[in-house]
Amino acid sequence: MLLIENIKKLVQAPGASLTRVAGAEMAVLPVVDNAWLLIKDGLIEDFGRMQELEGGYSGLGSNTGIEHIDTGGGLVFPSFCDSHTHLVYAGSREIEYIDKIKGLSYEEIARRGGGILNSAKLLQKTSEDELYRQSLERVKEIIMMGTGAVEIKSGYGLTPQDEIKMLRVIRRLKESTPVTIRASFLGAHALPAEYKGRRREYVDLVVEKMIPMVADEDLADYIDVFCDRGFFSVEDTERILEAGSKYGLRGKIHANELDFSGGIQAGVKFDALSVDHLEFTGEEEIETLLASRTMPALLPGAAFFLGMRYPPARKMIDAGLPVALASDYNPGSSPSGNMKLIMSLGCIKLRMLPEEVINAVTINGAYAMGVEKTAGSIAKGKKANLFITREIPGYEFVPYAYGSNLIDKVILNGEVIKGV
Ligand code: NIG
Ligand code: FE
Repeated sequence: MLLIENIKKLVQAPGASLTRVAGAEMAVLPVVDNAWLLIKDGLIEDFGRMQELEGGYSGLGSNTGIEHIDTGGGLVFPSFCDSHTHLVYAGSREIEYIDKIKGLSYEEIARRGGGILNSAKLLQKTSEDELYRQSLERVKEIIMMGTGAVEIKSGYGLTPQDEIKMLRVIRRLKESTPVTIRASFLGAHALPAEYKGRRREYVDLVVEKMIPMVADEDLADYIDVFCDRGFFSVEDTERILEAGSKYGLRGKIHANELDFSGGIQAGVKFDALSVDHLEFTGEEEIETLLASRTMPALLPGAAFFLGMRYPPARKMIDAGLPVALASDYNPGSSPSGNMKLIMSLGCIKLRMLPEEVINAVTINGAYAMGVEKTAGSIAKGKKANLFITREIPGYEFVPYAYGSNLIDKVILNGEVIKGV
């Protein structure tokens, strides 16, 4: 058992069970001041206020093997749930970054065979072991930055064997690291060069060959499509979501990053778990989302890095929608898995309040990747996945101090993670 004491603020610790928060509730953050938290067998056993502990906590019994951590004025947060990443990739794309600085757009780079196809070319030449090695470093990095659950997509393979290779790497990461991982199959991320002008045939390959192969090895939890101008159409997306649903794969799709693509409507029509990006979201899209249980997931790191427009988060929340925030960690549009920076971008660029961004990177992120029953808040019986900050004035300081690492200790499954 591990007892954490003298917690200045235990953040996101609701009295009742929480699965997601929407609209005005997003500005409400349940916090226990001057708290303790007890961990047993990797799970949160109990928590409360220090005053109650003074007479001794009955749940401890006569157990003498109990470990203690005194936070000394630190805050405790549930680990971040990063519901959208592409962190399994080979190499990096800083050369395109320079092209972008010089004025080329994301779409122009993609049309020249750069972008996703560039990463695909490299990934196809990279062995599964090497891909695992490179990706493991990224997972270790995000763990130390406070992430306890992460969704990872395929989509840089673009051939049956290379998509499978990516998904096997994700499975190895799941088995070998303490972080909770969910996998999404994103065969329709970009059209491979050899299918130029034959998009329907590539979608046939995804539907008829890749999805059954992925399902056969049980390699994915969800299915994704890049539904946007210049990538895949609503018709392609619906075919893929339909095919995925036959194997129990719910959608988590890329939509409306580059245009009003119809992706949001297609996602909702198939009861997607989340629709992500949403830079182009108007009244019609908001109405559609309001009538659904699909989580809108925003990725401000991508708009920041590409210098493009931000999604209308304020409008969405004011209309009553929930919002999740995720990193989109990938080599082309957001080469960072730093969820604390994403919180700052949420505040600065999306005009979300600190309470709203904390809800967006914890419980709503958990919902957007289907782990809200075990992660995303401090609750009895949930996984003891959390981080302790150094002494700071309050939770608002976290997005405010946008360049500082405030984490003192990371705890996953009840274990303190010593530098990985
Ligand atoms: O989420 N939008 C599509 N896919 C990624 C970018 C991938 C890349 O450029 O490598 C994204 O931004
Ligand atoms: Fe993405």
